[in-house]
Amino acid sequence: MNFKAIVFDAYGTLFDVNSAAEKCKHKIGDRWEDFANFWRTTQLEYTWLRSLMKRHKDFWQITEDSLDKSMNVFNIDTSMKNELLNLYKILSPYPEVKEVLTDLKKKNLKLAILSNGTPDLINELVNTNKLDTTFDDLFSIEEVKIYKPDSRVYDLPVNKYKIQPKEVIFLSANTWDVSGGGNFGYNAVWVNRNNSHFDNLDYKPKKEIKNLKGLLEIA
Ligand code: LAC
Repeated sequence: MNFKAIVFDAYGTLFDVNSAAEKCKHKIGDRWEDFANFWRTTQLEYTWLRSLMKRHKDFWQITEDSLDKSMNVFNIDTSMKNELLNLYKILSPYPEVKEVLTDLKKKNLKLAILSNGTPDLINELVNTNKLDTTFDDLFSIEEVKIYKPDSRVYDLPVNKYKIQPKEVIFLSANTWDVSGGGNFGYNAVWVNRNNSHFDNLDYKPKKEIKNLKGLLEIA
């Protein structure tokens, strides 16, 4: 297959969403991981619910709203809020990310991020992690003001590059995002880092890989 672009989800796929809470685990205590997972789940629920309610707020506001609820539920002192939010802006990439992207950069393919994050957030993540010269484009849902998995989001790279969805390899660690991109027509690859189970949403991943290194066999 003649692929023309590789499009990556950001949060959870390139950048470790739990790394903000992990950096504060000495203060949060033993439940830091449950707290981080609850925060992430609430954040995603808010994206879907706001899209359905047609009451858009950007991803940074949603990240803060979901953090407020999570801190309440886990009884975490509000003095930690700013620290957690600041760390969320500079999440760490997964260990293999930089090496794999450097290899992919040598191929004649467009490399892009397609994320719920605002342009500022994605830019900051890419810049702090020294990935600023890696990507051809950073696509944000703010262009269409509706969250994944709305098909208008997956349309963004296809429109810009004037290519077919089937010419795109789309990677996400989020099962529902793989289903969204796959149902749109992408070749959607599931980055299954934690040996988990896939969804029943009318799509099975074209390929399942443990981390991004598996991509080098496909692209
Ligand atoms: C994103 C979320 C889905 O980056 O992880 O779009």
